[in-house]
Amino acid sequence: MTRNEAFDLLKKYNRDPFHIQHAITVEAVMKWFAEDQGYADEAEHWGLVGLLHDIDFELYPDQHCIKAPELLRDGGVSEDIIRSVVSHGYGITVDVKPEHQMEKVLFACDELTGLIWAAALMRPSKSTKDMELKSLRKKYKSKGFAAGCSREVIAQGAEMLGWELDELLQKTLNAMQACEDEINAQTAAEA
Ligand SMILES: [Fe+2]
Repeated sequence: MTRNEAFDLLKKYNRDPFHIQHAITVEAVMKWFAEDQGYADEAEHWGLVGLLHDIDFELYPDQHCIKAPELLRDGGVSEDIIRSVVSHGYGITVDVKPEHQMEKVLFACDELTGLIWAAALMRPSKSTKDMELKSLRKKYKSKGFAAGCSREVIAQGAEMLGWELDELLQKTLNAMQACEDEINAQTAAEA
């Protein structure tokens, strides 16, 4: 499956610009992590999983990760991508455990990218680029801030990866900083 086919499939089930932006963000961050984690030759694959991971969320929020296999299979997506997508609902709606490094990264970063964007929007720059770990850590610890981004899931993701929480925060922040221009450009092109 090509990236364009995947994107068309995503748009078949997602209209909300916030959801499109989230998909583009997680795609870019996943590709960054593929390089970072020594899977550069699989970067496109990691990106596809990121792009499609929430495909069922807009129309079927109550069946998140349960409805996804049907939508993805209908769209001709391969079973390995479907498995990886579903695994980010581990312990929430499904019992498919993240096994591959890519699946663990997806689990750990999904909610965290949302938190980082929300923190960026609070800044005069509206950007991640001048954000430091210390300030991100403060937002993470502030329970009322971006309360929809589950700290429990983020912490569980770090544990799966065998990383300290700070390591996960720093790496994901680095990823977002590196990808921000590209994410903004792509999101604007879709708006
Ligand atoms: Fe997500």
